[in-house]
Amino acid sequence: MSRFVAKSLDGYKKLYDESINSPETFWAEFSKNEFSWIRHWDSVFTFDWSKAKFSWFAGAKVNITQNCIDRHLEKNGQKTAILFEPDDPNEKSQHISYQNLFEEVNKTANMLKSMGAKKGDRICLYMPMIPELAFSVLACAKIGAIHSVVFAGFSSKSLSNRINDAKCRFLITSDGGLRGEKITPLKKIADQALELCPSIEKVVVVRRAKNEITMKAGRDFWWDALIENQSKECQVEIMDAEDPLFILYTSGSTGKPKGMVHSSAGYMVYTNFSFRNVFQYKPNQIYWCTADIGWITGHSYIIYGPLSAGATTVMFEGVPNYPNPGRFWEIIDKHKINIFYTAPTAIRSLASHGQNQLKNKRLSTLEVLGTVGEPINEEAWQWYFEHIGKHNCPIVDTWWQTETGGIMISNLANVTPHKATFATLPLPGIQVNLLDKDGRELKETDAEGNLCIKHPWPSMARTIYGDHQRFINTYFSRFPKHYFTGDGAKRDADGNYRITGRVDDIVIVSGHNLGTAEIENIINQHPSVAESAVVGYPHKKKGNAIYAFVQLKTQDQIQNFNAEINALVSKTLGPICKPEKVQTCLALPKTRSGKIMRRILRKIASNDLENLGDVSTLLNPACIDEIKENRIND
Ligand code: PRX
Repeated sequence: MSRFVAKSLDGYKKLYDESINSPETFWAEFSKNEFSWIRHWDSVFTFDWSKAKFSWFAGAKVNITQNCIDRHLEKNGQKTAILFEPDDPNEKSQHISYQNLFEEVNKTANMLKSMGAKKGDRICLYMPMIPELAFSVLACAKIGAIHSVVFAGFSSKSLSNRINDAKCRFLITSDGGLRGEKITPLKKIADQALELCPSIEKVVVVRRAKNEITMKAGRDFWWDALIENQSKECQVEIMDAEDPLFILYTSGSTGKPKGMVHSSAGYMVYTNFSFRNVFQYKPNQIYWCTADIGWITGHSYIIYGPLSAGATTVMFEGVPNYPNPGRFWEIIDKHKINIFYTAPTAIRSLASHGQNQLKNKRLSTLEVLGTVGEPINEEAWQWYFEHIGKHNCPIVDTWWQTETGGIMISNLANVTPHKATFATLPLPGIQVNLLDKDGRELKETDAEGNLCIKHPWPSMARTIYGDHQRFINTYFSRFPKHYFTGDGAKRDADGNYRITGRVDDIVIVSGHNLGTAEIENIINQHPSVAESAVVGYPHKKKGNAIYAFVQLKTQDQIQNFNAEINALVSKTLGPICKPEKVQTCLALPKTRSGKIMRRILRKIASNDLENLGDVSTLLNPACIDEIKENRIND
C-alpha cells in the first residue's frame, strides 16, 4: 500500500503537512514510484502567476495510456477494466478486461492513424456513453492526438462552435444515442453542425441506435468497417509531460465557452492520487461514477483516475429513471457495486419518487458514496445517507471544477470525517485560501469569502485553447498570485469548507455549468426581444434553475412567447439550458453606466423581495416594482 494514500485522520494530517512544507519532494516521491515513465523529469514544477504559466514534471516523457492500461496487463490482464451497462436493461452488460481494452484501444488508435491522425491533431468525440467512447478517448491519448469530447446532449450550434474553436480535423460520433425510450439523433445533429465546420476532414460513425442516417461519401465512414482489420498492436506516442492531453469546454461568463486544456503528466498524477485517496479504492472493488464522459467528472473519474489505479470502472449508457426510478439501485445490486459516485441533482430527483423504488433492492455491497457538481442540500444528503448508504457508508462530497482537473476539497472515505453539506478538507497538495473582496486573506478559521488556491497543483488546466489572455483574466487577475475559482465558501471552526455557490455569472443547473451570458445571447436573437437578463434561482430538484427576464421591443403581447424562447434555447444550446421561467418586463434594472443589475434580479427570482438593497441609485428604479409584481411564482 502506498504511503501516499492516507489511512487515518492523523495520517491525512501528516501527509497534508508534508505536501505543504515540501511540495517538490512530496510530488516527486509519489510520482516516481507510482507510475511508469519513459523518462523522468528535470524539474517537479515551475510557475509564474503573472503570466499564468505552470509546468509540472518538465522534461519527463510519458504516455498516460501505458499507465492506464499496459502496466496492468501482466498481473491483471483478465480483470474487468470497464463494465458496460447498456441503456436497455434486457441487453447484456459487457465486461471489458484490461487485455480487451488494450486491444480495442490499439485497434482504434490504428484506425485513427490510418485516417491520417497524428500527435497534436484535435479530434472531436460527440458520442453516447458506449465503450467506443472510452476506446476513442484512450486511442487519442495513445497516439498523442488531443481529444475534445462534446457532451452528446449539446445542440448542433454548440457542437460546431466547439469544433471550430479547436479546429478539429476528425469527428467520431454515432448514429444515435439511446436515452431511455428516446433516441438522440447524434449523426443528424452532427451533420447540421458540420455545415459550419470546414476543419473536419473525416467522420467516423459508430452504429448504436440503428436509426436512419445519411452518410456523406468521402467524408463519413462506419466505425465497424474501418476497425475491422486493424492490428491489435500499436506503439504509444512518447509525450512530453506538458503536451496537451485534452480540451474540454466549460461555460464562460462572456458567453463563449472556454476550451480548458489539460496536460499529460500532471493530470495523470493528480487524477490517480485523488481517486485513490478520496474513494480509498481497494483492488477488488467495483466502482461506479454515473457522470457522462462529456463532462470532466467522466474524464477524470470514469476513465483516467480509476484506470490508472487498475480499478474496475462502470460505464452506464442510460438514464436514472428508465425503465423506472429504481434503475440505479438495480444496477448496484446486479454488479455488486462498492463505490457509487453521483450528483446531488440525481439524488434529489430520485428521492422525490418516494421509497417504492427501493423495494427489493439490497444495496448491501455499497461501502462508499460520493457526490459532485453542486452543493448538496441537507435533505438530499440525509436521504442518500439513510436510504442508499443505510447509515453505513461515508459520503464523500467532492468539490472541484473542469479547470482543476481533479478533486480539490473532499473528505476521504472512512479516513477523514464527513459532514453533511460540507466538502470538508482540502486534499494533500491543495492550499486553499479565503479572500475578501479586496484580496485580503481571511486568517481566522470561521470565515466566509472567495475561494482561491494559493499554490499550483499538478492537474490544473494550463490554458484556454487559443486564448491565454482570457485564461489570465478569468482565473489569475482578480487576486494576485492565486487561482480564483469563481466560488464562494465558508470555513467552520474545524477548518471544514462548505461551498456556497458561484459568485460570478455562471449557474449550476442539475449539475451542469451554464453561462448566463450564453443563454442571454440566444434569447436576444428572438426578433421581438430588446434585451434579456438571465439569472439562477434555487430549485428543489435541479439545485438551481434559470429565470429569464426579457424586455420586448414593443409592449404587444406575443402568443406562445415562452414556448418560442424555450425552443430557441433548446435548439441552439441544448434542452438543459432552457429557462424554467420567462418573465417579460417593461425595462430591466440598470446602473447609471448601463449595466444590468443582475444582483437585484437574482433576489427577485429567489423571492427574496425584502432584501433588494438600495435601488435608488439605479437609472430606472421604477421598473423594479413592475418586475416584482409580475414575478412568476413556482
Ligand atoms: O460551483 C462549483 C460546483 O461546480 C462548479 C464546477 O463545475 P464544472 O466545471 O462543470 O465541474 C463539475 C464537476 C467537477 C464549481 O465551481 N461544484 C462542483 N462540485 C461541488 C460544487 N459545489 C459544491 N459542492 C461540490 N461538491
